[in-house]
Amino acid sequence: MNGRVKQLPEAHEVVRAQWLSRVEAEYRSAVLTQTLTLWMMQAGLSPDLLHEGLRIADDELVHADLSMAVYRAAGGADVPKLARESLVHATPDAASLERAIVAVTVDSFCLGETVAVPLFKNLREGCTVPVARRALDRILRDEVRHRAFGWTTLAYLFEGPHGDALRAFVGRELAGWFRRIRRSYAPAFAEDAREVDAVSCAWGLMAPARYAAVVARTWERDWRPRFAKVGLDASGAWAESASG
Ligand SMILES: [Fe+2]
Ligand SMILES: [Fe+2]
Repeated sequence: MNGRVKQLPEAHEVVRAQWLSRVEAEYRSAVLTQTLTLWMMQAGLSPDLLHEGLRIADDELVHADLSMAVYRAAGGADVPKLARESLVHATPDAASLERAIVAVTVDSFCLGETVAVPLFKNLREGCTVPVARRALDRILRDEVRHRAFGWTTLAYLFEGPHGDALRAFVGRELAGWFRRIRRSYAPAFAEDAREVDAVSCAWGLMAPARYAAVVARTWERDWRPRFAKVGLDASGAWAESASG
């Protein structure tokens, strides 16, 4: 064992669990982005967006690799669990291609990748273990571009020939997508959700309670103004997503 390895603070089980689930999430993102880009190619969207989509699918694979390296360094010996069925996204028929594209664009990019930027900023803040810091540096750098891809694609779709129908469709679905993302980051408000120990923080974790705070801030800072910019008032959907 060399000196550098010895200096790593010993990771708790929660660190391993967290990084293994990040490997799975990154891999899922790679598959979903690859699928989305295929649909965008079939729909004949702008070549600039197609190249960017393929690049993002590759970024996500890199994120999965980097996250796996952290998991291993933390002493993890398991493999990611990725049920094949969960990686298959049903091919939309030709008439509903644009709807399928806009659904993934909004749900995964305008919502998911947009909240990912401040989330990863927070995770990186106290992260000092080099292998984890390296992963979070790269992920955070890429997420800024992934967020931009979502909003550029959405503006492009809304300005296109199906724009009005797609804007109405997003207006109807948005509350459900907001609800899903709020739930997935809602902490169990137990006392132990409010803090995380220093070692886990060094490995790139943060207190579960902070996730919900970041999501709430993202509404004010990003979602509300960015949806308004593409001509969609998201306030009703956001309010509705708080209930139920
Ligand atoms: Fe990623
Ligand atoms: Fe991403």
